[in-house]
Amino acid sequence: MSSIPMLDLKKQLAGIKDEVVGEVLGVIESGQYILGRMVGRLEEHAAAYIGAKHAIGVASGTDALALSLRALGIGPGDEVITTPFTFFSTVEAILYLNAKPVFADIDPDTFNIDPSKVEEKITAKTRAILPVHLFGYPAAMGRILELAGRHNLKIVEDCAQSFGATINRNGQKAGNRNGQKSIERKSLKTGSFGDAGAFSFYPSKNLGAYGDGGLITTDNDEMERQIRLLRNHGSSGGYIHHYVGFNSRLDELQAAVLLVKLKRLDAYNEKRRQKAALYGRLLSAASIKCPSADDGASGHVFHQYTIRHPRRDAVREKLQGQQISSMVYYPVPLHLQPALRFMGHKEGDFPRAEAASREVLSLPIYPELEDSAIKRISKIVCSV
Ligand SMILES: Cc1ncc(COP(=O)(O)O)c(C=O)c1O
Repeated sequence: MSSIPMLDLKKQLAGIKDEVVGEVLGVIESGQYILGRMVGRLEEHAAAYIGAKHAIGVASGTDALALSLRALGIGPGDEVITTPFTFFSTVEAILYLNAKPVFADIDPDTFNIDPSKVEEKITAKTRAILPVHLFGYPAAMGRILELAGRHNLKIVEDCAQSFGATINRNGQKAGNRNGQKSIERKSLKTGSFGDAGAFSFYPSKNLGAYGDGGLITTDNDEMERQIRLLRNHGSSGGYIHHYVGFNSRLDELQAAVLLVKLKRLDAYNEKRRQKAALYGRLLSAASIKCPSADDGASGHVFHQYTIRHPRRDAVREKLQGQQISSMVYYPVPLHLQPALRFMGHKEGDFPRAEAASREVLSLPIYPELEDSAIKRISKIVCSV
């Protein structure tokens, strides 16, 4: 039996190789490698795709989070509420600014931050909410926007896993950008709700580069101006520096690759949804669920297909025995990470995140994954 990886980027490349090679060669031959035509084009296309006024390319998703928070003026003494069930960099970005991360537990049905738990954590020092659209499933932005509007808080969306994910309105009215606007649209993309959206182009992301990269979306002209300066040593050129900034630029080669993939992203995401639907049908025989998949109103992009299983480790072992990869995202919630001991948390503080860490298992999902592989995987998962 052949092995099944979590992700197969070589298969993806096979479908786009000629175009990618042509674009990459074009950049190499242009002699312009930093902040040139390709980054500008990607920013334009990404802003239009997400439905944001601006998009700014940066060096990574982590930097996208940190620069967004910095441009909102968040710093020492400020509290930022986020989820304990996410990748570590969500909280690193807050700590880079010497601000205080404050955790709010997750909704067990979606793995995303629970807005009612967020509300319990708001204090006079709270400046922002940082929801993560984990595994490609949009966080409950309607309620988060409402809370932010009521308490005058900023929102930075962590969209590292959710390029192209939407919240579908079913004709309902919804607030946008801190509830200031009320708009009626059928669906809105993640990254268009908050004051800023932070995206990652890490190669394994559903829109991935061939190296590191990130992007920030915002409707705020002043934030855009600041982020453009901050990513380039605080300078707009001419060796005049308005801020002490960073070297955090998306490079031309990555932008060229991303432009090729962005054109195909809707098709890739649709394939992921089809794969997820097949998993859903096959796994339901054993009452195994990918919790967030149940909500038909959301435009989940299935960056991961993550189930809960009471015997998770046994399932993982059995899959491994058949050379099938699976991953545990994430085995230790952030409040119990060794690096964050100084925050003084203990086991039991966020029981839903802790339960998720014990029970989750992400199964292979990517547009090129064969249906026969999904059938093979599902059969093994159902047999444990
Ligand atoms: C939820 C989340 N936030 C932030 C990041 C950071 O992105 P990057 O690796 O591009 O810095 C990642 C991925 O790596 C992520 O999964």
